[in-house]
Amino acid sequence: MTALPFKEYVKVEGWEFVEPEEYLKAHSETLTPEFWLEVAQDLDWFVKPTRALEGDPPFYKWFTDGKLNMSYLTLDRHVKKGRKNKVALYWLGEDGTERVLTYYEYYRLVNRLAYAFQNKWGLKKGDRVAIYMPMIPELPAVMLALARLGVIFSVVFSGFSANALADRIKDSGARYLITADGYYRRGKKILLEENVRKATEMAPVESILVFERLKGVWNFREGDVSGEDFIRDVPLNTYVEPIPVESEHTLFILYTSGTTGKPKGIVHDTGGYAVLLHATLNWVFDAREDDVFWCAADVGWITGHSYIVFGPFMEGLTSVMYEGVPNWPDPGIWWSVVERYGVTIFYTSPTAIRLLMRYPDEYVEKYDLSTLRVLHSVGEPINPEAWWWYFEKVGKRRCPVGSTWWMTETGGVMISHTPGWKLVPLKPGTNGYPIPGVKAAVVKPDGSEASPGERGYLVLTRPWPGMLMTVWGDDERYIKTYWEKFPGRFYTGDYAIMDEDGYIWVLGRADEVMNVAGHRLGTYEIESAIVEHEAVSEAAVVGVPDEVKGEVPVAFVVLKEGYEPSEGLKKEIKDTVREILSPIAVPKEVVFVSKLPKTRSGKIMRRLLRAVFLGKPLGDVTTLEDEASVEEVKKAYEHLKGELG
Ligand code: WTA
Repeated sequence: MTALPFKEYVKVEGWEFVEPEEYLKAHSETLTPEFWLEVAQDLDWFVKPTRALEGDPPFYKWFTDGKLNMSYLTLDRHVKKGRKNKVALYWLGEDGTERVLTYYEYYRLVNRLAYAFQNKWGLKKGDRVAIYMPMIPELPAVMLALARLGVIFSVVFSGFSANALADRIKDSGARYLITADGYYRRGKKILLEENVRKATEMAPVESILVFERLKGVWNFREGDVSGEDFIRDVPLNTYVEPIPVESEHTLFILYTSGTTGKPKGIVHDTGGYAVLLHATLNWVFDAREDDVFWCAADVGWITGHSYIVFGPFMEGLTSVMYEGVPNWPDPGIWWSVVERYGVTIFYTSPTAIRLLMRYPDEYVEKYDLSTLRVLHSVGEPINPEAWWWYFEKVGKRRCPVGSTWWMTETGGVMISHTPGWKLVPLKPGTNGYPIPGVKAAVVKPDGSEASPGERGYLVLTRPWPGMLMTVWGDDERYIKTYWEKFPGRFYTGDYAIMDEDGYIWVLGRADEVMNVAGHRLGTYEIESAIVEHEAVSEAAVVGVPDEVKGEVPVAFVVLKEGYEPSEGLKKEIKDTVREILSPIAVPKEVVFVSKLPKTRSGKIMRRLLRAVFLGKPLGDVTTLEDEASVEEVKKAYEHLKGELG
């Protein structure tokens, strides 16, 4: 039984609401590829598409006869059509440094970079480049300059370790690496050189381009070039023609965690992705000409790709980028940024909201937030309590607040309230309905639809523009991961409930993927890092609920013979994860056990580990583990309880 507020309807004064029936009726008329083809006509293509959807399922292709260029859509178009001197980006460093770039300034910088990429590095359409950059204004410039040439880029989150970076360089076959000397975090300088050196030892590249955010901290070697030197001799008024690419040309690869094996390189096209971003900016965010759009995510994740860089830039909005965390130097800093730039659309994670709501209200009340118009959250389920705080304290009951569901694979928002299209009454914590052109269902393990209120798997039942094209270099894995569980439907890996009104409530991952503070991590990745420690024989990681971060990893570790459990060893194991994977993946606790509970086929019984750790009863064992007998599960549970006392 669940206590979700299925029947709590919230309306916002000053906004027009429609009843669910009206939404669903209008929505039912959008479920054709031709509907999307019509939406696609809004974009400035070099060659307008006349074909909507083709391909050999599940390898779908959108708008195949269209040609376009993302750099043109985000820059040239605005420079030509009256937005030349409009602010494209407000950037604020944690140390108070501010940079304001207009569309024209970006246009020039991007052209110069593109020129250097083409003429100094010889980059051409289809080549791959890895980007390992923190949140600085050059990051969007680099992405757009590469897109201008049809070069495929892969952004690696700057908080990732050397190993993670090396894996991604190797897997994508990147010829070059673009990075920065570092950034500020909680008042400290975080340097990137050590990670870059280690990574490029494992995965060599032809050259490294380094933007100096901190200045004077990078030890330049042969093969390195600074951002300034790279374009110093390229004239300010350089123009590089944006290469018209086919709609299905890969714009970028973004790696994300899966249940097994190495992270998957999610491949996104250009045309479908552009159309989805244009559509969601309008329907979900209700974007208007004068909006100041702040998506407080990192560009290293899909959210930042779509809603800091490509989406807002395509629509010619003013985007905001802030370098720091929400609670340093104090928990009012984000609200001061809203006030400073007059942010109108704000988009963040439930983790950030839960963190900020723990502090006294004076931090949020101190600032003028009256410019805010639309609020959304993303990345994890938002609990009703956090939703109410966001709605009342931040939005002052004036702004619709939604929880937009989507994933790296979908490219953009799929399920959300749509204040820019038709707005149905809000419910605290729900995701709402699929956006126009998208259809979702909640299904039982046998593929039949779950009843209202019943938990099941979330699937998307139709292809959509912006969907992933494949997994980089691994078509088989693409089919297996997403299309085999429920043939013909896209399997999301999430549990969800559809309520009686048809609203969808995503509950969390159904597979062995965790969502730590909105960062997607595979339990397998963390386990692989832990077993790198010489004392560890086996490890199992589970996600347990956390009041702020939503979920955090806990590791169960079996030691090799000759090693004794100790506090020192726990710390070493945590350090190993920090080193090999990332600080965000470090287990909250390390628990030593003599053996791991497994099914006959060797699958770790994670739900059982979680139950014991949380001191919960075993519950209904019949559905607990597919492949072990009820007796075996009970025995394993008792054994584990005994061990943990
Ligand atoms: C989760 C982030 C509930 C979900 C854009 C999904 C959500 C995973 C929501 C994808 C939401 C994302 N409510 N859960 N509004 N948004 N998720 O690839 O489990 O980093 O599968 O993409 O985040 O994470 P990813």
